[in-house]
Amino acid sequence: MSNKRIVLAVTGASGSILAQRFLETSREEIHLVISSNSDQVIEYETGHNSEHFKKMASYVYDDRDVAAKISSGSFIFDAMVVMPCSMNTLAKIAAGISDSLITRAAAVSLKERRRLIIVPREMPLSLIALENMERLTRAGAIVAPAMPAFYTRPKSVDDMVNFVVGRIMDLCGIDNELVKRWKEEERD
Ligand SMILES: Cc1cc2nc3c(=O)[nH]c(=O)nc-3n(C[C@H](O)[C@H](O)[C@H](O)COP(=O)(O)O)c2cc1C
Repeated sequence: MSNKRIVLAVTGASGSILAQRFLETSREEIHLVISSNSDQVIEYETGHNSEHFKKMASYVYDDRDVAAKISSGSFIFDAMVVMPCSMNTLAKIAAGISDSLITRAAAVSLKERRRLIIVPREMPLSLIALENMERLTRAGAIVAPAMPAFYTRPKSVDDMVNFVVGRIMDLCGIDNELVKRWKEEERD
């Protein structure tokens, strides 16, 4: 077990199943924050309410609590993952706005040069969204869109979800068997 300390932020973009799979699969110390706008998306897409997500986390914070411990640069963690990331939250982080715990913790990740992984879900993308992604990348974040590959010949939504979540875990340095790796069997 790699035993990483991960801040997982869930926002109101489509793709709450990605956060659900991360929570179900990970054995790490997860510090979870869910934006209030995510609640209806989580219920609509997964059939569970956000309490179901919270039960799987090690620690849970209210997004309105900008004084929570993850809001401080003195809180050490291995990576912050915003998944799924709405264009709204992405724009706020890119603009340096810190009016919620999620946006504050992301701003802290950038200023402390910690690993910040943004997993946006939107299609198509406006110039504004693309410029915000460029800005985040220049500031040190990793923009890793929720884009499954097809060379793995996915047979189900689960396969596609596992691919995306597995690649995000790779970026966090978390050991995982979710990703079917390219030509791996040929190397063994
Ligand atoms: C069912 C549903 C699906 C949505 N999907 C997306 C999406 O894929 N991407 C996105 O940027 N916003 C999406 N939204 C809109 C966001 O929820 C909305 O912009 C919200 O203000 C985001 O707030 P937050 O960033 O605080 O979570 C969706 C909303 C609903 C109700």
